[in-house]
Amino acid sequence: MWTLPKGKTCEVYCVSSHGRSEGLAAQGDGELREDQEVEVERSSSCCSWRRWTLGILPFFPFTAAIALTLHYLTPPSYSVFLLGGSVEFPNLSFSLELSDSSSPQFRLQVQALNHYFSKLYESTPWSSYYLHSGITAFSEGEEGLSVFYWSKFSAPDNVAMEMQRSGPERLQRRLPGRHKVQRESRNEQRYFMETDEDTLHLLGLDAEDFESEDKLEKMKNQNSIQGGKWQLGFQAISFDLYAKYGNNRTLSLVSPKKPYYQWRLRVPSGHVVRLVVLTLHGATPGSCAAHKLSAYDFLLPLQNKIIARWCGLPVSGSSPVMKLTSSGNVMLVTFSFSRQRDGAIFKAYFQAIPKAVCGGSISSWNGSISSPYYPSFYPPNIDCTWTIRVPVPGYLISLTIMTLDIQNSPSSDGCEKDWLDIGGMKLCNTVSDSSKKRVYSSPLSIHFHSDESLTHQGFHLLYQAFSPEGTCPRQFRCGDGRCIPLRKVCDGVKDCSDGRDEAKCLSCRPGEVLCANGQCKPQSSQCVSPSMCGDSSEEEGCGVKCYHVCPNKVCLPKTSVCDGVSDCKDRSDELNCTRAYFKSCSSSSYKCANGKCVSKVNPECDGVKDCFDGSDELRCSCGTRPRKRTKIVGGSDAVMGSWPWQVSLQMDRYGHVCGATLVASRWLLSAAHCFQDSDAIKYSDVRAWRAYMGMRVMIKGNHGASTRLIRRILLHPQYDQFTSDYDIALLELSSPVFFNDLVQPVCVPAASHTFITGTSCYVTGWGVLMEDGELASRLQEASVKIINRSTCNKLYEDAVTPRMLCAGNLQGGVDACQGDSGGPLVCLERSKRWFLAGIVSWGEGCARQNRPGVYTQVVKFSDWIRQQTKGQV
Ligand code: ARG
Repeated sequence: MWTLPKGKTCEVYCVSSHGRSEGLAAQGDGELREDQEVEVERSSSCCSWRRWTLGILPFFPFTAAIALTLHYLTPPSYSVFLLGGSVEFPNLSFSLELSDSSSPQFRLQVQALNHYFSKLYESTPWSSYYLHSGITAFSEGEEGLSVFYWSKFSAPDNVAMEMQRSGPERLQRRLPGRHKVQRESRNEQRYFMETDEDTLHLLGLDAEDFESEDKLEKMKNQNSIQGGKWQLGFQAISFDLYAKYGNNRTLSLVSPKKPYYQWRLRVPSGHVVRLVVLTLHGATPGSCAAHKLSAYDFLLPLQNKIIARWCGLPVSGSSPVMKLTSSGNVMLVTFSFSRQRDGAIFKAYFQAIPKAVCGGSISSWNGSISSPYYPSFYPPNIDCTWTIRVPVPGYLISLTIMTLDIQNSPSSDGCEKDWLDIGGMKLCNTVSDSSKKRVYSSPLSIHFHSDESLTHQGFHLLYQAFSPEGTCPRQFRCGDGRCIPLRKVCDGVKDCSDGRDEAKCLSCRPGEVLCANGQCKPQSSQCVSPSMCGDSSEEEGCGVKCYHVCPNKVCLPKTSVCDGVSDCKDRSDELNCTRAYFKSCSSSSYKCANGKCVSKVNPECDGVKDCFDGSDELRCSCGTRPRKRTKIVGGSDAVMGSWPWQVSLQMDRYGHVCGATLVASRWLLSAAHCFQDSDAIKYSDVRAWRAYMGMRVMIKGNHGASTRLIRRILLHPQYDQFTSDYDIALLELSSPVFFNDLVQPVCVPAASHTFITGTSCYVTGWGVLMEDGELASRLQEASVKIINRSTCNKLYEDAVTPRMLCAGNLQGGVDACQGDSGGPLVCLERSKRWFLAGIVSWGEGCARQNRPGVYTQVVKFSDWIRQQTKGQV
């Protein structure tokens, strides 16, 4: 039973000027009627008041004058106010009939819940002010039936004010404690409701219950004065809609006849409502007072749940005006007009879309991140956290803010409503063009927060990992660290955000020289007589004249001629050499230890003694796989012991960084570019490295692998980080490694060794499995074919030097990739021994069509290797 507290009985009724509360008669279908006894008690107490008033009647008019004066001087002490809320009953279930407030099922369910609401505020500080509640809608809850309701209170002004001021958290905390009715309900939410005209009309409540008399008087006068105003009726026109997943349901309004319309939208639990507004005519720009369309993240018109509000947006063209998303499976859309106006049109549809999960941990070279449902409005009440990591240590992250449209905080400092936190900096306002691009270290943490109201389009970010080194190997480095292919430099299109690629272009492209007369000539014409420029201006700084010019006009210095390395395509630089030790030997013939040459192709270690001194069959305990009895991108897991010369080069802090190849018990071959310092990491420091041999699965602890520290890193003195030419390094281990089934050296080919175009060879490593991927945990192997250098040079715009070798698949799909660098490309020879043909060096992207892998061509370094290792290899 509900009883009025002593001493307050009459006040509820006495104060009628500010907040009258006679509205006990049911106004809506879902109104919960009060206990009859309560009404009796109330009426009787008020009757005594009336009797007392009658008793003093004879003293009128004098008394009346005093009473009236007092009446106007004493401020009214009571206000009527509303709380709006929702609650879920796990033991009840939702049915479509329950969404129709005129159905018998709706009425019965309201009655059945009467007991819950009569007890709801029983032991709360508000119990003495509570009047009654009304249920406005049902929806499908997470576990049962969700009920949306309002509760009406009449309380002293100070109590009402305090309730109004307390935020939602406080209101929830003030919920009944361990109350009986609490046990049957879940997910309580309760908020203070504005009792403005719009809200009351949408709820179907009588505004007179809430207004002071003078205000009412004013409203009446206004209505009578301003022609064309609506004749106020209390009921809004309501539509209750439900959309199953995959269905679109339409909302439309043409020539509205009433001042208030509302659509209560529902979708199945686990989904959210996507509202697509197609047309919106008839709103007065900028004037929210005239009429407005509002969308709420709740089935009651609560101010704090407004997702978006339009007060006169442009009429749509072909694309939707707006796409909104709710945070749960309901949305309320209301349209209100203060004046009748023909031709007001609103057309929209809604659908159920699965609830988005946002955030996550990303390890990638580049990608994008956007707010949930972007470019639709993000939902209210959501938090997402992303962590971006670059797949290989030492890279930085360049982040570009493409769009940032989130709820602006009214306070200038700090973002209190919605925000995007990038690496510890909160953003909620538009960013200037200059600060749209930022650089962060890896890992980068991004957090997005949206509060429970007002949403916007959101944000869209692009990120890219880039090497902080001063250079981009074989590529051009923009001001923001991004690398672009050289062919994009000086091509008339700005590819760098700072335009650096087109800044110093004079008129020549890379690979060309600028003659004094302003003409551009191919670089290969430099230092060649006769002068291509015609004025010899390109010969400046040539120092020495060309000693030899290949048929394709490549100019060679004296040191490259007859050095055992064919630099010209036709090998003309190695023919007719007069040096004694090459006498009677061509560059393609194998040279025995005694200086004699054999004409047989690849005679070394083939089991046949070809040199008189037998030197071609010495040092041949290499290139076998004792254990083998039977990302790399597009490769597959290698079987244990398949590639016993494969080495993982790891750094204490970063784990696997590069591959290497075991060529002798204390020597490894790798790529010089693996040891170039970056701003952040000293890759050249021998102490930072550890070599792991006999390893297949990359796990912490590296069980079973032989580990060695590095004593020396010998970079090739001609290594050029801009062109990746001479990308080779020898590493001397701190102590020799013992060979076994899993640890074996590969054969290093003689300088004369030829690997024929089209031969299938294998590249192996733990590099990333795709361009944007992560390092492989198991050793990968991939079969790639040797590609003819001139074909490769056409694909790479002459970036492939004579010290390089291309291998891959021109269709793409198979290749080495980041993290495979320094690792082996090996080919099986007739002798059934594996020879090291190449060292993973570079490539544009990975496994792209017509962008094969480029390797350091080992045969060009056979002599250098032998010299440096003092014949140990
Ligand atoms: N430079 C890369 C590394 O440091 C290897 C690139 C190989 N790329 C290719 N497409 N084959 O690991």
